Amino acid sequence: MRDLLRVERIDGILLVGIDNPPVNALSQPLRAALLEAINDLSDDVRAIAMYGCGAGFIAGADISEFAAAPKPPALPDVCKAIEAAAVPVVAVLHGATLGGGLEVALSTHLRAALPGAQLGLPEIRLGLIPGSGGTQRLPRLIGMAAALDLILGGRPIGPGEALQLGLIDRVLDDAAPRVAALGLARQVLEKWIAPRCASALTVPEDSAALAAARTRAAQGRRPAPHAAIEAVAASAGDFDAGLALERRLFHDLRATDAHAGLRHAFQVERLVRHIPEARLTPRPVAAVGVVGGGTMGAGIAAAFLLADLPVTLIERDSAAAERARATIRTVLDGALKRGRITADRHTALLTGALQLATDTAVLAKADLVIEAVFEDMAIKCAVFSDLGRICKPGAILATNTSFLDIDSIAEASTRLEAVIGLHFFSPAHIMRLVEVIPGRHTAPDLVATGFALAKRLGKVAVRGGNCDGFIGNRMLSHYRKVADYLLIDGASVTQIDTALERFGFAMGPFAVADLAGLDIGWATRKRRAPTRPPEERYVAVADRLCENGWFGRKTGMGYYDYSGPERRENPQLAALVAAERADAAPPLRDFSDQEICDRYLAAMICEGARVVADGTALRPADIDAALLFGYGFPREQGGPMHYADRIGLDRIANRVRTLSSEAPHFWRMPPLLERLAETGGRFADLNQNKPQ
Ligand code: COA
Ligand code: NAD
Repeated sequence: MRDLLRVERIDGILLVGIDNPPVNALSQPLRAALLEAINDLSDDVRAIAMYGCGAGFIAGADISEFAAAPKPPALPDVCKAIEAAAVPVVAVLHGATLGGGLEVALSTHLRAALPGAQLGLPEIRLGLIPGSGGTQRLPRLIGMAAALDLILGGRPIGPGEALQLGLIDRVLDDAAPRVAALGLARQVLEKWIAPRCASALTVPEDSAALAAARTRAAQGRRPAPHAAIEAVAASAGDFDAGLALERRLFHDLRATDAHAGLRHAFQVERLVRHIPEARLTPRPVAAVGVVGGGTMGAGIAAAFLLADLPVTLIERDSAAAERARATIRTVLDGALKRGRITADRHTALLTGALQLATDTAVLAKADLVIEAVFEDMAIKCAVFSDLGRICKPGAILATNTSFLDIDSIAEASTRLEAVIGLHFFSPAHIMRLVEVIPGRHTAPDLVATGFALAKRLGKVAVRGGNCDGFIGNRMLSHYRKVADYLLIDGASVTQIDTALERFGFAMGPFAVADLAGLDIGWATRKRRAPTRPPEERYVAVADRLCENGWFGRKTGMGYYDYSGPERRENPQLAALVAAERADAAPPLRDFSDQEICDRYLAAMICEGARVVADGTALRPADIDAALLFGYGFPREQGGPMHYADRIGLDRIANRVRTLSSEAPHFWRMPPLLERLAETGGRFADLNQNKPQ
């Protein structure tokens, strides 16, 4: 095994470089190596200087080890040994210094940071608390209020803020971390700066900060914030007792489903980048065109502008172009208000980086054009025919279609290799998912370019196959029907939405439909009507709503009535549902909230299994990512396929068998689910497939 530490002895200084690429995560071998280096000091060592090799100091515990039982040495023991070392220990922090990495730093006797360092305790995002003294040492250094802010927010801070808070002792000028670490240790030996132990400090209880934090934590459903507050409160007392409490709380949280789900969400976000085209060089994209400036086009344009990519947006006429400008301005105003951009940049983006036009000819020099016109094949084909004529050779022609066939759109352009689906989600400047959909003839480097662009926009790209609805909308079209079946069979929209919101979705399916606009689904259903299997159970409630002109929020009425301050059901809905019940419908019945969730999720999992089996998604992880980042699936549940693994595939398969006796056409057993259930397999087993 390669050495995980680069150890040198220079003038009585033990220089310890942490060298565990890609992010210096604190794996068991690294913890063991660190402990050995600290414990086996020769007599001539007078100081220890730690630094990180590569892009950062230490990015934290090794998340891939969290699924198994912990192996010694535990990180708190390593931290204790560092703090108890017979000689001063200093650390130079650069790049990612997160979680356990910051806890290692807090255990040293003197910390300095290089420009660009990111210091933070992000454990809360994984449903955990710092478990190696962070909740005890940090408040002693910076006070309870600031510690609570950093631990509960999980946000990393830069060197300036860290120095101001007292988290570090120095901000250094830019230098190689090794050189800086050596210099810092020399200063300690020459007694220019005095090192100190965080555990020897005391911190007064800040009851106001604790009370405010408790009030905020009570509003959420996750256990980790409560545990973090309890641990930080204990830092006012004995250090070792606080450490023991922190460790117990950390271990309790490690065993929760919420932590497993959040950890899975972290991992799938990275796993989905492993695609067959990962090694190809992305094409450079400096100038972007967007055709269509409605809900999606304007949102996509704003997302590109915020990533510093200039955009030329084409609309049908100048009035529509001005509406698009106003939508983009609203998004940028929001970014300005939240401090994400400065006033100067806001002005520059709106007056320089954004161009509006009504003639596609101005896109001749664009590197990438994203079409976001109406979801209508004839209109899209006309646009792509123009783009095929106008755009420069090598330009990428992307469509944001939700459902339509990428190959037919590509044919209209006459540039089969140049066309790809880049499917953004609404609101496009917020939702993180982008489905990257190659057609049959798409040049493979376009897929790599789609992924690179998504990264630049801070989004999560998922590679999907070209089928009706790709991954996400194909699944949604299937599982969404369950909500309609439940409604027509006896549950109310309020009960269904509330049950799924309690499961963790930000909004239930009827509230989402109202928000998206019921007319969108109506158009799709009309398009699909000729090919709908006659045996499919069809619920026409949404069609009736649309026929009344009720398109949801935008018309003030949909499943819900939005005329008052609170959402309440459309007063005419019950009568409308009753009128839609077919003579052959099963008798009305009650559904428990659990049954509602079970059916909804079982349908999601079934379609997910089919999407994996036919290759539309590369792995179950890609489905989890699509649902987590595009469809509001609750992060602590990890995604539908992870959820299915947790519940047990045999139980899910049994549920499908039972439901299939009720409605055999809808509840068909996916062969992949059946096979895995029979063999004791898990969807996670299929995530090992990492092409490249
Ligand atoms: N443990 C194990 N592996 C980790 C890791 C960790 N703490 N942090 C990152 N990695 C892995 C990623 O899975 C990825 O692996 P892959 O290349 O096989 O897909 C690789 O390191 C690079 O990570 P990535 O996130 O793609 O790189 P980045 O440069 O965009 O971001 C970090 C780097 C460190 C900022 C980011 O990875 C991060 O925030 N990590 C987690 C930090 C954390 O939560 N620490 C506390 C743990 S309790
Ligand atoms: P929208 O109706 O809000 O906007 C479409 C815009 O395109 C309109 O402003 C219209 O004036 C413009 N337009 C139409 N023909 C044009 C042409 N030939 N040249 C220039 N502009 C033209 O629609 P939307 O919701 O933004 O959807 C756009 C596309 O994105 C559709 O394909 C849709 O399926 C897809 N999509 C929508 C969502 C969503 O939630 N709304 C999500 C993902 C994808």
